[in-house]
Amino acid sequence: MFAVLAILGLTACQAPAEIDTGDVPAPTPAAMPEIWGPPTAVDHNPDPWVVEVHLRAGTSEMNWVDAGPTQVWSYNDSVPGPLIQVPFGAKLEVLFENDLPDDETTIHWHGLRIDDAMDGVPAIQDPVEPGESFLYEFTPPDSGSYWYHPHVRSHEQIERGLHGALVVHEEEPVEVDKERYFVLDDVSLRNSGAFTHFEFSAPNSVHGRHGNVLLVNGSSEPLEDEVRPGGTERWRIVNTANARTMWVGVEGASWRVIALDGNLLAEPYETDAARLPVGRRIDLEVIPDGESAEVKLNVLLPDSSTTFASYQMFSGTQVGEPGPGEWKTWPAAVLPTIEEPQQSLDFELNGVGNAEGGVDWSINGDLFPDGVTYEVDRDLPSVLRLKNISTFEHPFHLHGQFFQVLSRNGDDSGEPGFLDTVLIEGLDEVEIFTGFENPGKWMMHCHILEHAEQGMMTMIEVK
Ligand code: C2O
Ligand code: CU
Repeated sequence: MFAVLAILGLTACQAPAEIDTGDVPAPTPAAMPEIWGPPTAVDHNPDPWVVEVHLRAGTSEMNWVDAGPTQVWSYNDSVPGPLIQVPFGAKLEVLFENDLPDDETTIHWHGLRIDDAMDGVPAIQDPVEPGESFLYEFTPPDSGSYWYHPHVRSHEQIERGLHGALVVHEEEPVEVDKERYFVLDDVSLRNSGAFTHFEFSAPNSVHGRHGNVLLVNGSSEPLEDEVRPGGTERWRIVNTANARTMWVGVEGASWRVIALDGNLLAEPYETDAARLPVGRRIDLEVIPDGESAEVKLNVLLPDSSTTFASYQMFSGTQVGEPGPGEWKTWPAAVLPTIEEPQQSLDFELNGVGNAEGGVDWSINGDLFPDGVTYEVDRDLPSVLRLKNISTFEHPFHLHGQFFQVLSRNGDDSGEPGFLDTVLIEGLDEVEIFTGFENPGKWMMHCHILEHAEQGMMTMIEVK
């Protein structure tokens, strides 16, 4: 056999031979780091460039309060749903099956700049009826920390448990001692453990639904593990609550913010408390100090206008040989240059009490699905002005694109990040810059789910 090849090789030498690479295996993606957190989804496809995940929405039970179980809606019997991990450049195929008793649903891939046909919004994709299935397939274009959730009656479906985390690893993952994903949530439960009602009446319709039980990776008790003093950990965090802005802080470690909404920052920064509007992901680099007994992840919630109450979500006991205690170098996302805008859109956000005792949360006076689809040209420097006429905060989320914050209340606020969600506080006016690189029809809405479902959503078509 070898001899034959050699002879063929000799004759082929006369002319520049075409090389047959048919037998040479294509390079495989870099090994994905293990992530401590929700159970990782099983990949059913042996091809290293295809991740095939099966997700089934159904009903199950969780034990969050002593009095009794909570009947939840879950992906693969887990709340949060399985953690989906994809190597950079690989295709993700999600075979989704709706096994809910009588609710139609979809899956939206929050933050991913994919094709709008796969974005999981009912304006484009017919919702999946109970007993039916749908194949989501796309190649995520950006690495980072993301999440997924339904886009049908989201205030109820997400609260009942339908949400999960998704990680697209960097092409060459930065080596750390440990990666973790913390999915934060708050749920509103009766003493019995049952969910409180989902009607749009005060206070839910006004502030959005604030829970009375905090959850981390589906647990109402703080999670525990071991950490290495002077080691380096990467903590990915998402706020999946319906309405509650959370702050997070770390004790017993040096820590800094390295990514927002999936995108690694050019200049990581240290802070006392990092704010997470709903929908936001944040990545922290954490170096246990070697002095305290444990490293803690705390959720901080305002309990007055000036003070916070601290709730411990994670405790890492410091054990083992000390590590070097050095910050890593992270491959920052490449941001488009901010240029003179060539098109602009203006949005006024408002809320007016209605006859049913709820609030009509509107964008330019329209209550979704009423109202126009805004049209823009793709690949043009663009500014969106979001003017909040109400005194309530609105975490605004744009599908299919990332943006940078240009100004807040007329000032260059210097807010870092390449984002998909921005918090617009009461009466604030925020300008954001995007290049609208991804064509298609995209939703933009408040991520306080009760606001969104009562009307505060709109569509932008990028042509
Ligand atoms: Cu996470 Cu349209 O939403
Ligand atoms: Cu809102």
